[in-house]
Amino acid sequence: VREPDLAGRHVVVSAGGTREPLDPVRFLGNRSSGKQGYALARTAAARGARVTLIAANTTLPDPAGVDVVPVGTAVQMREAVLKHAADADAVVMAAAVADFRPETYAAGKIKKQDGQEPAPIVLVRNPDILAEISQSRSHPAQVVVGFAAETDDVLANGRAKLARKGCDLLVVNEVGERRTFGSEENEAVVLGADGSETAVPHGPKENLAETVWDLVTRRLE
Ligand code: C5P
Repeated sequence: VREPDLAGRHVVVSAGGTREPLDPVRFLGNRSSGKQGYALARTAAARGARVTLIAANTTLPDPAGVDVVPVGTAVQMREAVLKHAADADAVVMAAAVADFRPETYAAGKIKKQDGQEPAPIVLVRNPDILAEISQSRSHPAQVVVGFAAETDDVLANGRAKLARKGCDLLVVNEVGERRTFGSEENEAVVLGADGSETAVPHGPKENLAETVWDLVTRRLE
C-alpha cells in the first residue's frame, strides 16, 4: 500500500472531450474516452487527495470518493476548472479540449435544402484553459500539468508546447489511428519546465497517472 502522500491536498483533473454544438442534435467532438483522466482521479484519491474531476462527455462510472463535475463545452469546462482551481494544489488538464467552436449555434435543427449548396461552418477560437491556468495561478506553488497528443516530432513539439502554455509538466503522447484514444494502455514522456524528461513505458494508464503524481508531489514539497 502506498503512503498517502497527497493527503491534505486538493487536486483538479479534467477528463474526456468537449463537444461544441452546431444545433440541438449535432456537435464537433473528438475521440477522447476520459480513461486517462479517470485513472489520474482514482490514483490521486488513493494517495489521499481531495479530487475534483471535471468530466466532459464521459460514460465511465464515477470513481469512488471523487467529486465529479460534468461539463459539455470548452467554455463550460473553463468555468468549472477556474472555479475549482481557486484552492487547488495541482491542476491536471487531461481533457481533449476543442481548440475551436462553431461561431453560431442554430436553435433549430439545420436542414438540407434541395438544390442548395451546404452552408460552410465558421469556427472561432476557444479559450486555452491550460495556458490561462498556468499564467494566472491562484497561488505561486500551484502545480499545473498539461497533456499533448502529437503525431510527429513528438519531443520537439512537446517542448515548444510546454514553453508556450507555461505549465510545469507536459505529458506527451504519440497518437495515431490505433493508439491511445479509448485504449486501456498508454506510453508517454513527461517533460518538465526544469528540463527534466521522464519516460513512462507502455502500460496501464494507472502507471502513467502514478508517475504524474510522483512528479507533482515532488514539486509540492
Ligand atoms: O494545444 P493543445 O490542444 O495541443 O494542448 C493540449 C493541452 O492543452 C491539454 O492539456 C488540454 O487539456 C489543454 N487545452 C486547454 N484548452 C484548450 C485546448 C487545450 O486547456 N482550448
